[in-house]
Amino acid sequence: MSRTAYVNGRYVPHRDACVHVEDRGYQFADGVYEVCEIRGGRLVDERRHMQRLLRSLGELRIAMPMTLEAFGLVLRETVRRNRVRDGIVYVQMTRGVARRDHAFPPAGTRPGVVVTARNHDLAAAERVASEGIAVITVPENRWPRVDIKSVSLLPNVLAKQAARDQGAKEAWFVDADDTVIEGSSSNAWIITADRKVVTRPVSNAILRGITRTVLLEVLADHGLELDERAFTVSEAYAAREAFVTSASQIVMPVVCINDRPIGNGMPGLVSSDLRRDFHRFAEVG
Ligand code: PDD
Repeated sequence: MSRTAYVNGRYVPHRDACVHVEDRGYQFADGVYEVCEIRGGRLVDERRHMQRLLRSLGELRIAMPMTLEAFGLVLRETVRRNRVRDGIVYVQMTRGVARRDHAFPPAGTRPGVVVTARNHDLAAAERVASEGIAVITVPENRWPRVDIKSVSLLPNVLAKQAARDQGAKEAWFVDADDTVIEGSSSNAWIITADRKVVTRPVSNAILRGITRTVLLEVLADHGLELDERAFTVSEAYAAREAFVTSASQIVMPVVCINDRPIGNGMPGLVSSDLRRDFHRFAEVG
């Protein structure tokens, strides 16, 4: 099936979907993005993703180029045209096209808007989740404002590739105190021997995951105690369970960190329960 992308006001065949060479997203990574899950053809947690998009744009002083209502229609139309049932919709907004100059372009420069959508193989994702993933750790080398979902992802790209090179699926950034910050494209969690669920508190040092936010409600419903604090790599080695969260992976059990098995080396029961129940708590629109 041929894919369609939304590019600056037009729906175009995916293979012809292009932006200008002087788009500031291309020149300076001067833009932001969102990834929203699609399930059963419907957007999951659209409201929260749009709130975060507005926040990221605001932090970079890029004006939202259309109303949220109009943009919601674009998202749905892109999903519909690509016949996405279970997958993701990707949104990118940049400061637009202008003659290359680091400072902001003239007022009135229209932000660039791209939306793409694609199906995921749900069965394959479930197979991965039933086996769990391996994680490596890498030193934090990103800028101090990763709370902004900026397209400037070079450290994340290199970290993910380092994981890939070592046969792992995710890399956890670790600070100078050996505490885990977050994954290259996910938030990081452990469950301690006394069944406390631990994840780093929200700050400018992590991206406030929408999956993370919704999972807090799932934890409360399951009567699980949350401990929002930094945890060390050694604590993670000794954890009963570990997992990562993101819109594209929901709750993904971690069974191995730096080649050390976590718990019994199999996906944890709590992580698997949280994964199973997540969508009862997510908003579907
Ligand atoms: N990544 N931290 C980072 C650095 C991320 O890139 C992501 C998401 C998250 C989790 O956020 P959420 O739960 O809202 O997806 C945390 C997306 C999926 C990506 O880059 O593809």
